Amino acid sequence: MMLNVLVTDNLATTGLDILQQVDNIHVEVLPTLPTAELQQQIGKYHAIIIRSATQLSAEILQHAKKLELIIRAGIGVDNIDQQAATQLGILVANTPHSNSTTTAEHTFSLISALSRKIVAACTSLKQQQWEKKKFLGLELRGKILGLIGMGNIGSIVARIATGYQMNIVTYDPFISTQHAQSLGVTKVTLDELLESADIVSLHCPRTEKTQHIIDAQALQKMKPSALLINCARGGLVNEEDLLRALREESIAGAALDVFVKEPPGDHPLLALDNVIATPHLGASTKEAQESVSRDACQLLLEFAKYRIVNSALNLPIKLKGESLAKSAYFSLAEKLGSMQGQLVNGVPHRIVVECYGEETSDITELVELIVAKSILRNIFSEGNINYVNVPMFAKQRDIDLVSSHLDASNDELAKTYRNLIRVRFFCKTHQDQISEQIIAGTVIGLNHLRILQFNQYLLDFRPAGSVIMMLNEDKPGVVGQVGTLLAQENINIACLSVNLPKNEKHALAFYSLATQPQQNILKQILEIKPIQACYLLHFTA
Ligand code: 3PG
Repeated sequence: MMLNVLVTDNLATTGLDILQQVDNIHVEVLPTLPTAELQQQIGKYHAIIIRSATQLSAEILQHAKKLELIIRAGIGVDNIDQQAATQLGILVANTPHSNSTTTAEHTFSLISALSRKIVAACTSLKQQQWEKKKFLGLELRGKILGLIGMGNIGSIVARIATGYQMNIVTYDPFISTQHAQSLGVTKVTLDELLESADIVSLHCPRTEKTQHIIDAQALQKMKPSALLINCARGGLVNEEDLLRALREESIAGAALDVFVKEPPGDHPLLALDNVIATPHLGASTKEAQESVSRDACQLLLEFAKYRIVNSALNLPIKLKGESLAKSAYFSLAEKLGSMQGQLVNGVPHRIVVECYGEETSDITELVELIVAKSILRNIFSEGNINYVNVPMFAKQRDIDLVSSHLDASNDELAKTYRNLIRVRFFCKTHQDQISEQIIAGTVIGLNHLRILQFNQYLLDFRPAGSVIMMLNEDKPGVVGQVGTLLAQENINIACLSVNLPKNEKHALAFYSLATQPQQNILKQILEIKPIQACYLLHFTA
């Protein structure tokens, strides 16, 4: 299938050049569409690559009927309504490592520039002044650097600061004391950081919790000589409060790369002598832009291949890097789910996925998501049920999802085939009873899929194309009659599997067809007397 991709916002060509060479990816580069136009256009695309200029609000995403993936080429995702994306089954991924070093370096440029008054000194010199006394600076060695947030960028800033022989403290509720120690950093409370630091630098995302983490109260706790650096996100700092603090000189200065509103226009902060500022240049180096573009496009290639991306921010499970290589098991999970969904017999109540064997030991949770997605997509037509939103979708409908990895040596079928996925699908019948339907399958060799079990029947058929499944009294001649009927309809049988367990009066047969039949073929087949039930299954590639 052709993947239509919109790139809105400027993206270096490094990655785009790779995409141009891929047959099933069609890229349109339209930087940066005004909101109204984006709303009109977004419905055509399966994936979108953005930077910080494009706002993907819930309202815009409602128009993104085909959208499956949002890639933020960069780190900050506060311009994406992630909750709305998740609800709509849209994956959200970013490239968290590609511009971290560049941003950390910019942070340090601002720290140096602010502490040595470089901007003002340069302006003065260009006006032919020689004001050495006026621009007396601050030596960084031995000073306390307080880092709010110790993720990728915070850690790199800490490493650079170590070279300056600074003492580093951090406030980050998500890192352990040991990890902080391993980075040469002391973990402290936010108040301790604000009260002790000579330089406070922000390195956290903007969320509901971190919005205005630096407000009037926080600023009051800082030393009058302290400097504030924000290379993270506008909105982390209350700009009105900062303006007051800088005017009253309750802190000594601020360096800002980000603003609540970008561009900030004639914001009064920019008029202050103790403020230096840059226009959101944190990630603006040639190297970072190329790396962001490459990583974003790499994510797209991964998505084109597997329909999932390892590093998605809103996946309900954590994936290991190598998991996606096991795509044959994902196809099997898809087929098992599809067969369960097509044969649904009541209101879905519980989906239990059992994985056996080494190959599935680290992908059990992902297999559960794929099975659940595939079953529910076959039953419910509403919404785009996807890896991202299937747990939420199931919960809203009181459907339990359970999975486990089991020891193959305790299961006859799993022991024989070494790897096995068994799906137990429980439904509520019209009489309010719970019914169970069991389907199991395996991967033979690299990628040959086989269905091996349907309830008490042991089978062996390939889940591909159109397959007629029928239950009939075990009498000679049934296969002949079905064959004749199909021949009259000009339908070729590609493969046939008839299964009769000991002590069973009914055989279960699977006719894999070379031609797709009309649905009314089932009615004709049911006229053959010994046939009790008959279903037409479709397995897409
Ligand atoms: C980021 O979040 O990656 C940086 O703030 C850079 O944003 P940009 O892609 O808009 O330059």
